[in-house]
Amino acid sequence: MPDEPAILLENVSFAYPPVLPDGAPVRVLDGLHLAVRPGEFIGLIGPNGAGKTTLLLIMAGLAPRLTKGRLSGTVRVQGRAGMVFQETDSQLFSATVEAEIAWGMENLGLPVAEIERRLDWALEAMDIAALREAVPGMLSGGQQKRVALAAALAMHPDVLLLDEPTSGLDPIGQDDVLAALADLRRAHPMTVIMAENEAEAIVACAERALVLHEGRITRDAPPRDLFREIAYLDSIGAPIPPAARLADMLRGRGRAADFLTLDEASQALK
Ligand SMILES: Nc1ncnc2c1ncn2[C@@H]1O[C@H](COP(=O)(O)OP(=O)(O)O)[C@@H](O)[C@H]1O
Ligand SMILES: [Mg+2]
Repeated sequence: MPDEPAILLENVSFAYPPVLPDGAPVRVLDGLHLAVRPGEFIGLIGPNGAGKTTLLLIMAGLAPRLTKGRLSGTVRVQGRAGMVFQETDSQLFSATVEAEIAWGMENLGLPVAEIERRLDWALEAMDIAALREAVPGMLSGGQQKRVALAAALAMHPDVLLLDEPTSGLDPIGQDDVLAALADLRRAHPMTVIMAENEAEAIVACAERALVLHEGRITRDAPPRDLFREIAYLDSIGAPIPPAARLADMLRGRGRAADFLTLDEASQALK
């Protein structure tokens, strides 16, 4: 059914088990609702500890299975979800990049010829063909992210879940990963949920931005609209693109300013 959401969360609540023996459960999500259309690229922001990672783990089917804790409500994800974790180095364990990317496909029971074909494609798509024989543990943070992304993509997920894909990368590494993602999405339609506190990355990639705060989605808007709500985002400790903050200050002084990125700002301020 074409109109069926790729992801549907209804009245979802989640709590981790108590950290201390007689403590209370750690409540993270509290009656959250969300419907995601197939092919949407969603940016998820929120203060530290808001539950972004937990929400991705739930969509991936990993929480509470691996994390323990209590989940209630309805969680529906169409097709297969692939997740790239924030700490990519803990996700990479193979002796070579090639083996790392092949591993998930082998677990899917794909024929060898298909694994070879997708391996070549994923290496190419993430621009890491030269690293094929390299040891994942020896690579730079940016290269490791791309290997983890390639491994996830080779499994042809219907839903790609990215936890802070730019974290730990220098600005060039960040741009590279984001550019690779944007390219990829043009070539291969899939639904993407990206938790990311680099607000510029949300602006660059996402068509719909969500704010997670106190266990629920408190804002759901195009990034261009969301990042005009500077006072709200500040009040909850959510990230704001520096250029959007500047635009807001200029508007406060009666100037027309509507830019979100440094490029847009320098154009507008010429
Ligand atoms: N395994 C766990 N056990 C108990 N509490 C946890 C566990 N993992 C995360 N938490 C808590 O759940 C809340 C949400 O964490 P998380 O999903 O990592 O948020 P975010 O990714 O938005 O920073 C935080 O208060 C965090 O301390
Ligand atoms: Mg997190």
